[in-house]
Amino acid sequence: MKIAFLGYGNMADALASKWSRKHDVFFGGRSAEKAAALAAKHGGGSGSAAEAAAFGDVIILATHNTAVFDIIEQAGGAAAFTGKVVVDINNPISTETFLTTRTDGRSLTEAIADALPGAHVSKAFNMSQARVWSREDMTWDGRPLVVGFTADDGAAEVTATLVSDTGAQPLLLGGNEFAYQLEAIAAVVIKQLFSGADAMTVMNLINPADKPI
Ligand SMILES: NC(=O)c1ccc[n+]([C@@H]2O[C@H](COP(=O)([O-])OP(=O)(O)OC[C@H]3O[C@@H](n4cnc5c(N)ncnc54)[C@H](OP(=O)(O)O)[C@@H]3O)[C@@H](O)[C@H]2O)c1
Repeated sequence: MKIAFLGYGNMADALASKWSRKHDVFFGGRSAEKAAALAAKHGGGSGSAAEAAAFGDVIILATHNTAVFDIIEQAGGAAAFTGKVVVDINNPISTETFLTTRTDGRSLTEAIADALPGAHVSKAFNMSQARVWSREDMTWDGRPLVVGFTADDGAAEVTATLVSDTGAQPLLLGGNEFAYQLEAIAAVVIKQLFSGADAMTVMNLINPADKPI
């Protein structure tokens, strides 16, 4: 796959450490220097947000959660995403109140899907901290991390592959009408993390040994 990251922060770094082994990666955003630094680390390409969107079959929205619609505009707007799989990893959660910042009862993921009618959209990777994604070993007690995700029909298979390629186990929770719940669970996780909990212990879903997915 050709995977483009819009954003070059902690999550892009962690996920690219896995995917760059098997896929072509590209980093884009508002700083060419920061994008190039991550590309040098992971062996991919770099450039503007528009160049990243043009490169990717799969586009990972990996900016700060408040910048998602900004970066979509920087990439060229909805037309730049037509036919692409767009993965929303963002948690629209206030780190002051630990509540969702969504005010209309719908998820950020659904708002992204509304803004990108030609794209296939999923929500994934939002439930575990970047340190978890950068772990070489994605098992606990010998059992892999289970990653719940939501997706529309056109994004489900690719997103499951992306999860598998981190070393985790994909679990499709349903369409993006379930994304709001994933965002709400992330609020609980983030509150625990800000209270000092170890990222390795917070809400990481593991199947019983006798019940593989
Ligand atoms: N960190 C985690 O453990 C974790 C876990 C799960 C999900 N998430 C979600 O993943 C997303 C990324 O988190 P992160 O920790 O990787 O963030 P981060 O390290 O703070 O990086 C933020 C990125 O957003 C970019 N950005 C901010 N405002 C922008 C704007 N207006 N236009 C363009 N780019 C902008 C930054 O670029 P500049 O450097 O140029 O400002 C940077 O590339 C967040 O939505 C977060 O909720 C994070």
